[in-house]
Amino acid sequence: MITTFHLPTKIIFGSGSLAQLGEEARRIGRKAILITGPISMRKTGVLDRVDGDLQASGMDTLIYDKVEPNPRAATVDEGARLARGKGIDLVIGLGGGSAMDAAKGIVLASAEPIWHYVEAEVEVRDPVPSLILVPTVAASGSEANDGAVITSWETHDKRVLNSPYFFAKVSIVDPDLTLTLPEKPTAQGGVDIFCHLVECYLTAQRLSPLTCGIMETAMRTVTESLPQVLARLDDIEARTRLSWASTIACSQFATLGGGAGAMTLHGIEHPLSGYYDIAHGDGLAVLLPAWMRYTLPERQQRFYSLGRNVFGEADGIGATEKWLEKVGMKLRLRNLGIELEHMEQMADCAVKTAPWLKYHPRLLDAAAIKQIYQNSY
Ligand code: NZQ
Ligand code: ZN
Repeated sequence: MITTFHLPTKIIFGSGSLAQLGEEARRIGRKAILITGPISMRKTGVLDRVDGDLQASGMDTLIYDKVEPNPRAATVDEGARLARGKGIDLVIGLGGGSAMDAAKGIVLASAEPIWHYVEAEVEVRDPVPSLILVPTVAASGSEANDGAVITSWETHDKRVLNSPYFFAKVSIVDPDLTLTLPEKPTAQGGVDIFCHLVECYLTAQRLSPLTCGIMETAMRTVTESLPQVLARLDDIEARTRLSWASTIACSQFATLGGGAGAMTLHGIEHPLSGYYDIAHGDGLAVLLPAWMRYTLPERQQRFYSLGRNVFGEADGIGATEKWLEKVGMKLRLRNLGIELEHMEQMADCAVKTAPWLKYHPRLLDAAAIKQIYQNSY
């Protein structure tokens, strides 16, 4: 089997690396738009600092701070109109996965409304602005991949878009930026990282010893470091380990050595956050045990290896549930305000929006998905 490893992003990782943003940006562009959320980066002072650094390096800057969690297509298009109107040549995503994905969308939407890329193969008319990403949450790993998750709020369609234009030229991963993240989004982010790994680990037909080793080590890094961070939010060593795991987990790094798997739990989670606007990490945590039990008959040995090699226990599902409880993420759908009556609709939506469900080792059709939702209620 031939594997192509293509990651055209310069990743600068480490405490204090944010200081390099001005220089890196100046090498790429002249007019930058900063894409971020409405509260956290202003409140922490990071937005003013970054804006000041960019201007000090000779950049013209603009700020677009309207990105909501689970970013909407309408928000992306509004940001793109603003950027186009000002002749922007560089888009900088500063924030969690929502801000980084919106920044990716704004790069493409500089040519066409973003939803056009969902509905059809649209050729990108160059020139489009360049992209720099600065994650402030250890979760999505958007800084090291070519994916973006955008939601049409009118149809509650939450879609994964892929494009070569979504690879940042430069990503600056500074774990210091995650120190201000409170417990809940930290735990949600940790579960997201764990799922990026465990879904591929459990669904892959075959995994080479090398890929197994990478995934098990990265999962252990998350399962050990997340409780440490939740116990002491300013533990920069543990935060740094989480940031490394986040950057690796949803990128090609995680499947080096051959053997890929598919993120099928993500496929059935996206309708939940698309319909109910819940946090992505909560949606994953609530469905994970039932998704695992549904998958177990086809992957008995792999679940045993998960238990043994990640948690040091024979029962991989039981150990995962204990870990979710330990990090405050043992959840039920009804506690997230999700009603039974929408489950059929969401199951149909999952089948429509996640074609990769066909790679699940056991048939994951609308009936099976609905059953997993009901078992998570
Ligand atoms: O909105 P602001 O004011 O910025 O506050 C954010 C937001 O409320 C806050 N926050 C971010 N950094 C902070 C901080 N608060 C204090 N200190 C900081 N350093 O945290 C909240 C959550 O932010 P968000 O970006 O929504 O979280 P996350 O990073 O978990 O991203 C979730 C989004 O990423 C998508 C999800 O679907 C969801 O839309 N994903 C993107 C992926 C990708 N591109 O590869 C893969 C993932 O599987 C995921 O689907
Ligand atoms: Zn995710």
